[in-house]
Amino acid sequence: MDIEKVNSMDFREFVDVFGNVIERCPLIAAAVWSQRPFSNLEDLEKHFFAFIDALPLSGQEGILRCHPDLAGPELQRGTLTPESQREQSGAGLMNLSAAERLRLAELNARYQARFGFPFVLAARLSDREAVPRELARRLRCLRAQELSTAMDEVKKIGRLRLADLLGSDFPKP
Ligand code: GUN
Repeated sequence: MDIEKVNSMDFREFVDVFGNVIERCPLIAAAVWSQRPFSNLEDLEKHFFAFIDALPLSGQEGILRCHPDLAGPELQRGTLTPESQREQSGAGLMNLSAAERLRLAELNARYQARFGFPFVLAARLSDREAVPRELARRLRCLRAQELSTAMDEVKKIGRLRLADLLGSDFPKP
């Protein structure tokens, strides 16, 4: 997909295509549409990230809270978004043993209790061994630092999703 195609999209089409670049936050795509035309695909990405960076902390925490837990109940129920389903499957989180699932559920619950938002990690850049290790490590961080790490992960996820949508016209992360 090239930038002319993106710039030609009406509001509905744009939000249909880009609405889940940031998990379950179509409002962000809706706001980014208002800023077209984009000079190139990197410029499109910049607008997504600038919107996120400009949010107050409550808005950034809101974005995190729109994310499902990794290997959580939604994965079991099959109610994840297609993007999240693909990312979690790709990291091997569909094939955990009962013990691994239990360990992640405990860590996810401790993380949520400590920080008040769910653990977010670019699952496609990770795997079933690294996820609990990273979760345990980040559980020990200070809240402000952790919020910043988590928002960086949101951007990594968004960048990978944009690359999927835009194909070879967008440089691979
Ligand atoms: N990493 C990639 N996708 C997701 C997701 O949907 N939720 C969480 N917590 N992390 C992710």
